[in-house]
Amino acid sequence: MRNAVYPGSFDPLTNGHLDIIRRGARLFDQVLVAVLENEGKAPLFTVAERMELISACTRDIPGVEVHSFSGLLVDFMKRMNAKVVVRGIRAVSDYEYELQMALMNRELRPEIETIFMLPAVEYTYVSSRLIKEVFRLGGDIGRLVPPPVLESLRARLGVSSPA
Ligand code: PNS
Repeated sequence: MRNAVYPGSFDPLTNGHLDIIRRGARLFDQVLVAVLENEGKAPLFTVAERMELISACTRDIPGVEVHSFSGLLVDFMKRMNAKVVVRGIRAVSDYEYELQMALMNRELRPEIETIFMLPAVEYTYVSSRLIKEVFRLGGDIGRLVPPPVLESLRARLGVSSPA
């Protein structure tokens, strides 16, 4: 059974994340989506809410499981018996941060491999941070997030973005 861990903050899940999950699910028997419990980041959605949204949006993708973790990613991976990390890279600007994380994880556990996947071109500029900012300011992000996420943003932020 080949599994891979797709870790992140997912605050909230975007269509870019979903695209990477779909691509990962074609390569691996199981994709374990792992939501970081990081209170320091002052998230918009709780970890439980983010997990619920990811579950709702990945129901049709075989082999996807949703987990949360705190502490080191490599320790979570050990518990899950996983050796592959999947990360999406959008632009060159992502690369430096991703390189540091991948090499640090390799330092901590040399048997771990990180594979980088490219999202569909139409999502290469999408980030959770920008989604929240644009939505708050009334911009239309309906094409860039799954419908349950759009509903949750509306409920949480109490502003209406164009359908
Ligand atoms: O979506 P993000 O915020 O870019 O994801 C970052 C994440 C969760 C992959 C990263 O912060 C992480 O793995 N944190 C867990 C703590 C850890 O293991 N740190 C050392 C990794 S270099």
